[in-house]
Amino acid sequence: MKEYIEIIEGIGYDGEGVCRINGKVVFVPYALRGERVKLEIVKVKSSFSKAKLLNVIEASDEREIPPCPYYGRCGGCSYQHTNYQNELKIKKELLSNQMKKVGYNGQINVHPSRQEYAYRNKIKLFVGQEGLSLKKEENLCHIDKCMLVSDEVNEAIVKIDKFIRKHIDVFDEVTIREENKQIIVVFDKIKDEEIDYQGIFLVLGRNVGIFESFKGFISHIMGISELEREEMGLKCHFSPKSFHQVNKFLFEELYEEVLKNIVGERVVNCYSGAGLLSGIIAQQHEVVGIELGENEHNDAELLKKENNLTNLKNLQGDCGVLLNGLNCDTLITDPPRKGMSKEVVDAINEMKCKRVIYVSCDSATMVRDIGRLKNYIVKDVSLFDMFARTGEYETLAILEREGI
Ligand SMILES: C[S@@+](CC[C@H](N)C(=O)[O-])C[C@H]1O[C@@H](n2cnc3c(N)ncnc32)[C@H](O)[C@@H]1O
Repeated sequence: MKEYIEIIEGIGYDGEGVCRINGKVVFVPYALRGERVKLEIVKVKSSFSKAKLLNVIEASDEREIPPCPYYGRCGGCSYQHTNYQNELKIKKELLSNQMKKVGYNGQINVHPSRQEYAYRNKIKLFVGQEGLSLKKEENLCHIDKCMLVSDEVNEAIVKIDKFIRKHIDVFDEVTIREENKQIIVVFDKIKDEEIDYQGIFLVLGRNVGIFESFKGFISHIMGISELEREEMGLKCHFSPKSFHQVNKFLFEELYEEVLKNIVGERVVNCYSGAGLLSGIIAQQHEVVGIELGENEHNDAELLKKENNLTNLKNLQGDCGVLLNGLNCDTLITDPPRKGMSKEVVDAINEMKCKRVIYVSCDSATMVRDIGRLKNYIVKDVSLFDMFARTGEYETLAILEREGI
């Protein structure tokens, strides 16, 4: 397709550069504002085009050489071509633009990741013909390390890659989770074939658990059966597939900020996961946690029991159903990327609680949901860079009911 030389004028939702050619918006991944670049149009849509960056003719002062050999091919990181301060500046601008859509023009408080790299406690890898891989769009990219996870996980990746090559047609995914030097590996099978895991288990070393998942069922094969640790003064457990915030250096700061912003005695914590946040709040308030997943709910029940949290009630089910009839002073919501369903929004509107604390990993769906909540105004917004170097970030929005 045709090549152009253009100046990058703006930033798109995923941090890509934006320019205009003949009035039409063109997104240029890995290009920075102010740069003069040579690009090639690779996709044409009715309202925008997508380009491939061919060459940076005049580079921004913020440009850096990406340290990872897989950058641009694995689909993971989006900001390694710039310094971390500039990444935070771009993310802040993107969030600020989103928040303006719901009338918020105030300050965005930025909480950087304490580490730019090696902060993730979990990685999901695909099994391709060349072994363990990450995926960009539909293209697999074989990797032997990822800079976002710890050295321990990277050592495990190399060992598992060797093992998996003997069973390429049996597995389609491998998930590795790490907490406190404990590692859990879940092998997702696509073929009902018996596999001997003894060798890989011994090679991976101590404090390792092996799980197998087939047709949605997870079975414990050998080693440790869950990740167990003390977090913010509470003993907690994470079963192999239950949700836990991925940035091990930043989630405490997020939870502390949530706690600080609670008003009143009664709290409802929607989408409560494995129950750590509910547990922390229950040390000071009365909490009802609502979680759909059975594994997460069981983890939350264990956390409640082991820490003797009499102020905590864990409900298992859909927030859209279980919120009906509940009352509280502060409602916390931390939905998956797709945001809240209409039923959840309607139930919150019925409850009329004083404060809503919205934690979100997708600011676009969060802004859509806030727009549907009646009589709430956004008081304060923070950006937690839980996913440093990637296009994602976590938002904490504090909403207050008007006229109380
Ligand atoms: C982003 S996680 C938040 C977890 C928790 N707040 C934390 O900090 O660990 C979203 C959680 O919502 C749960 N979930 C998804 N849909 C749900 C629904 N309709 N009702 C209740 N929980 C749901 C998922 O299982 C997941 O644990």
